[in-house]
Amino acid sequence: MSMSANLTRLIDLSAPLWAGEAEVVGTYWDSPVRTHETDLKWLRCQCSKEFNGTGIGDFKNLGVFMGPVTELGEIFPKIDIGEGGFNRRYVLELIETLHDEFEHYNRFADVYDSISGPDTPPMNPHQLETWDEDVTLTKTRHRHIEEHGAVGIRASRFTEGGYCTLFREGMRLKGRGGIDDMIADACTKVFEDEFGHMLDGIAGLDNEDWNADQFAFMGELVVEQLRLRIHMRNAEFSYPLNEDRVQAIFAGDIEPEKFDFTRAEMEMA
Ligand SMILES: [Fe+2]
Repeated sequence: MSMSANLTRLIDLSAPLWAGEAEVVGTYWDSPVRTHETDLKWLRCQCSKEFNGTGIGDFKNLGVFMGPVTELGEIFPKIDIGEGGFNRRYVLELIETLHDEFEHYNRFADVYDSISGPDTPPMNPHQLETWDEDVTLTKTRHRHIEEHGAVGIRASRFTEGGYCTLFREGMRLKGRGGIDDMIADACTKVFEDEFGHMLDGIAGLDNEDWNADQFAFMGELVVEQLRLRIHMRNAEFSYPLNEDRVQAIFAGDIEPEKFDFTRAEMEMA
């Protein structure tokens, strides 16, 4: 199977912005802004997303943990009852999502606790705070879902993880020793979990029977979200890119991320 022209266009729109998010993270590792404190800060930010993140169609916008937990509680009496019920495979998927996201939280929290030192309290996810740029991204996703239903959810899922950028850039630290190797190990595990899922989700768009107009509209939502992701990441990593560079990326002054069509088409098969 190969991807439709509509889906390929959507990927072409996204690839420069995926590359922009990668540039934020890739620049950070050797940037003069990087200190022990900024490492702790981005790890807290990332744990906040993995623990409480919302905006990808999670149940009642309750987040990656409480969304599925609440939904599982509500649908428990309706598993496999036939009409009006919930298929067991759907339930298993919810449990897998919950498991995976909580594992991502564990991985980054472990790195945090390994490097934080005696003067910093251990990771407490209930004390984590979100940040302005992440709030803006989340609000935009909630608005897209509220106003546009299924297309909004699809757009939010399409932009989730931004082509696994953080995890891929983190993997590249392998071999540098110390904290960089810890980050690389955490990111490698998350990447291995997520990359196939993500490609599967992208490839799955071709089963939606959307027309060119619907794809084009989704493209608008996706571009808006991916731009907000770059701001969100840049803030998370203490602004390794200046605003001029961010605007240049938005204007297309960047080599697009290479999309793995071969593997995506394998996922479709
Ligand atoms: Fe995650």
